[in-house]
Amino acid sequence: MHCHDRKMRESVQGLAAGWIYNRGMQDKDRRLSQQLAREHLERGDGQGWFEELYRQAAGDLSVVPWADMQPHPLLLELLDQLEGRLNGPAVVVGCGLGDDAEELARRGYSVTAFDLAPTAIEWCRKRWPESRVSYRQADLLDPPADMLGRFSTVVEIHTLQAVPEELRRRMLAPLASLLAPGGRLLLICRVREEDEEIDGPPWALSRSELELLCTQCGLETELFEYHATGGETGSPRWFCVFRRPPA
Ligand SMILES: C[S@@+](CC[C@H](N)C(=O)[O-])C[C@H]1O[C@@H](n2cnc3c(N)ncnc32)[C@H](O)[C@@H]1O
Repeated sequence: MHCHDRKMRESVQGLAAGWIYNRGMQDKDRRLSQQLAREHLERGDGQGWFEELYRQAAGDLSVVPWADMQPHPLLLELLDQLEGRLNGPAVVVGCGLGDDAEELARRGYSVTAFDLAPTAIEWCRKRWPESRVSYRQADLLDPPADMLGRFSTVVEIHTLQAVPEELRRRMLAPLASLLAPGGRLLLICRVREEDEEIDGPPWALSRSELELLCTQCGLETELFEYHATGGETGSPRWFCVFRRPPA
């Protein structure tokens, strides 16, 4: 058995141990997401359950644990803090149901938002029929060529932590590759201590893992903050800005 298969199997235990993805206090029924994640992870498939969950949810927000129908409060804080320093075009990675993308569009950015799950993208288009956001289905592991090096602002919230470590290591370089020279990556995720064992999903990230974006992908750290409550009721969050050096 591959190491990551074993880790995926072990992580299934984490599902039963209680799993809080959402940003607010909404009551969520996690039975469907837990069951689908368990089934896929047991087969060594770290990502198939997202599309399956959106499909089976069939418009019912209460079974999508992260569907809070509001932009992340830390993103709002970060956008306020960086006002005047951020530029478009912007891209939201693993956009889910589109609230963060819509917030960026409201603030005047030209926004692309993509998700692996086609049903999430359909759902975004239905939720925001008048949207100026360009929603598209795409895989962060293999981003479309026309996205590479194109964005001055890249937003990643809770997508890296939603996949097992082996997969997300492979996502770091493609994530960085979306940035134009001088562009900024805004990243929010759960905090893992360096020596902490995690049963996901979600799989929180350690500081040293995030720093691979600098040592392996050529980005520079502009902000690396620890938020004890993640600006919400949940567990601590890293709140980071990484920058691709200007050309
Ligand atoms: C935990 S949800 C977070 C959604 C959204 N960012 C939020 O904070 O509400 C993770 C999202 O990442 C998407 N995702 C997972 N793997 C992906 C990949 N390889 N490429 C693009 N999106 C992916 C899932 O479909 C899901 O919508």
